[in-house]
Amino acid sequence: MNEMVLIYEKSEGIGTITLNRPDVLNALNAEMIDALSDALKNAERDEDVRSVVITGAGGNFSAGADISELIEKTPIHAGETARRIQEITMQIESMRKPVLAKIRGYCLGGGFEIALACDFRFASEDASFGFPEINLAIIPGGGGTQRLTRLIGKTEAAEILFTGERIRADKALSLHILNAVTSAAELDDAVNAFLKKLHAKSAVALSLLKRAINSGINMPLEHALMTEADCFTIAFATEDAQKNLKAFLKRRK
Ligand code: COA
Repeated sequence: MNEMVLIYEKSEGIGTITLNRPDVLNALNAEMIDALSDALKNAERDEDVRSVVITGAGGNFSAGADISELIEKTPIHAGETARRIQEITMQIESMRKPVLAKIRGYCLGGGFEIALACDFRFASEDASFGFPEINLAIIPGGGGTQRLTRLIGKTEAAEILFTGERIRADKALSLHILNAVTSAAELDDAVNAFLKKLHAKSAVALSLLKRAINSGINMPLEHALMTEADCFTIAFATEDAQKNLKAFLKRRK
């Protein structure tokens, strides 16, 4: 992993991945995308890591795909870059651990697409969100047209995608894009307190919840319900579940 474009740190069960090209507002180039994929794999395998935070250095999350790299590509190769960002988003969604985007400043294009794939999004008041691709006569290719629309519905998503205008954190919160908005000074504490609550739960049950939500959302309801029941069955069979269920009854007696 190249430490220059991405920093990976681990503390108190949280693996923090920091996009680190602050001079270009953490624009996503191929090197950073590969490093992000490696860091996610690393965090997935590490039993000490209970949850993952993706964030950006220098007061911004990411201003999207690196346009200076993109401009050199043929349409076919540019399409491959889009697919590569999609792969990262799918990697985030299929991870067994909760992934949270901690967002300050610009969260645009591919950066927004990565944030949308996370399970949770916490932002500071100075954050802004958007898909400026249309202003460049292109469109989002890393999942933005699909995930934003599925998350907030076609009416609001189309406005954001068609205008290319940025929305502020308070508006993103009201559209249910965000879980929480805090002052910049309070953001770290808010994220850590939230993740600490999750670390107290069964890791297996959390991973099954994540699978039920993320697989189910793309299936017809009938199949999604079967997936949910399968995940429930596996959770029920764990030692943790048996212990907690029995302990509950014992307390009541
Ligand atoms: N790709 C490559 N470089 C980028 C970038 C991107 N997506 N976004 C910003 N940068 C670079 C700028 O070129 C500039 O570099 P320079 O100092 O060498 O000139 C640096 O980051 C700072 O950006 P700047 O535009 O000067 O900051 P700003 O505060 O005036 O504007 C934005 C911020 C985000 C509004 C503006 O940078 C922008 O529109 N970026 C492109 C966003 C975009 O279209 N993303 C989708 C790409 S497909």
